Amino acid sequence: MKVLVVGGGGREHAIVKKIKENKSVTEIYALPGNGGIAGDAVCVDIGAKDIDAIVNFAAENNIDYAVVAPDDPLVLGCVDALEAKGIPCFGPRANAAIIEGSKVFSKNLMKKYGIPTAEYEVFDDCQKALEYLETAPIPTVVKADGLALGKGVIIAMTRDEAMDAVRSIMEDKQFGKSGDRIVIEEFLTGPEVSVLCFTDSKTVAPMVSSMDHKRAGDNDTGLNTGGMGTVAPNPYYTESVAAECMEKIFLPTVAAMNAEGRPFKGCLYFGLMLTPNGPKVIEYNCRFGDPETQVVLPLLSSDLLTVMQAVTEERLAEINVEWKKENACCVIMASKGYPQAYEKGYEITIPDAIWNNVYVAGANLKDGKLLTNGGRVLGATATAASLSEAVDEAYKLVKQIDFGNAYYRNDIGKKALMASMEG
Ligand code: AMP
Ligand code: GLY
Repeated sequence: MKVLVVGGGGREHAIVKKIKENKSVTEIYALPGNGGIAGDAVCVDIGAKDIDAIVNFAAENNIDYAVVAPDDPLVLGCVDALEAKGIPCFGPRANAAIIEGSKVFSKNLMKKYGIPTAEYEVFDDCQKALEYLETAPIPTVVKADGLALGKGVIIAMTRDEAMDAVRSIMEDKQFGKSGDRIVIEEFLTGPEVSVLCFTDSKTVAPMVSSMDHKRAGDNDTGLNTGGMGTVAPNPYYTESVAAECMEKIFLPTVAAMNAEGRPFKGCLYFGLMLTPNGPKVIEYNCRFGDPETQVVLPLLSSDLLTVMQAVTEERLAEINVEWKKENACCVIMASKGYPQAYEKGYEITIPDAIWNNVYVAGANLKDGKLLTNGGRVLGATATAASLSEAVDEAYKLVKQIDFGNAYYRNDIGKKALMASMEG
């Protein structure tokens, strides 16, 4: 089988490595992939948003199955376009990917179907939003409607901050057209949990839960990033919380999408906050999380491609999706300065013996050398019987990897370890 994976980050590297375990796979292409993914797949220089070029490549190369991993191509209809050429895909069609593509859509969906989430108001007029903020409860959260490279959410601790956020999104168009509409919502508190689910629109198979570490600095300080590390499972996500989420959030969401004529097939990511009033949805993503995937897939004992094909063919109920009873920790190594300005072009050395534990996010190949080429450069994942061992092992991996200006958090997993001791 010839498999194509659209995307080029650490998440896609994790997907590629897992798909490679399937013996029927003869070739894997990554579009565009990156210099590290090139160690496991054939990378082709086609951008993840270039839908026409992706479809032409897939048709010309007789691709048997395609995995569309990032949000942008999903929202742009990459799956629709590939399916139109008869290529089976993993990922939602555009009309379902809107669950991530528009926060206004997802908030209205949750309200209509009684799915627990933060209270909110929608605005398409800057002046009205500013007036509302004069008396709104503070802290508050301002969100651009559309995709904003993961940066469209501002937690405003003061009224002035909230107003500045509204002006920069709606007037200065910090996120372009994504900011034509905004959501202003209630500030929630509680531990956060990421739960990725396989769903074929009929059955929901949750993956192992995980915990992201979004801030750049230790002890959750500094700027928000795409994610500096993850652990799985998340100790806050107990069996009773999981049962409540399935009943009140996961199944109702999938049913709501069906009722709206937008059946969701693929990986539906629930960003949850376990508030004092129960679990609530912070965000939906229409795809695997990054770097959640880098801890979740290493714990999957079933064959990934088989599960994906069952999703595509709407027979997820017929298969068992099985998980290792282990823990995983992924530490992201970034370029110093990320998520702001950083330098590129430093050589990366990764011992062969640990290649299988490394997911490359931002690197290119030049004259046979792997060079840094992004803010998040790579993730190192270890699995072990206990969380504390997984964390220790992940940091041992990090110590064996070298590149100029490398930066990583030293406390990935610390919060989870403390929670698991309390529990
Ligand atoms: P997102 O970009 O949607 O993942 O949001 C980024 C982060 O903002 C989330 O992981 C939460 O930590 C935080 N956040 C989003 N919405 C809320 C909310 N209503 N209350 C508190 N924190 C929030
Ligand atoms: N790690 C959060 C995300 O993938 O959106």
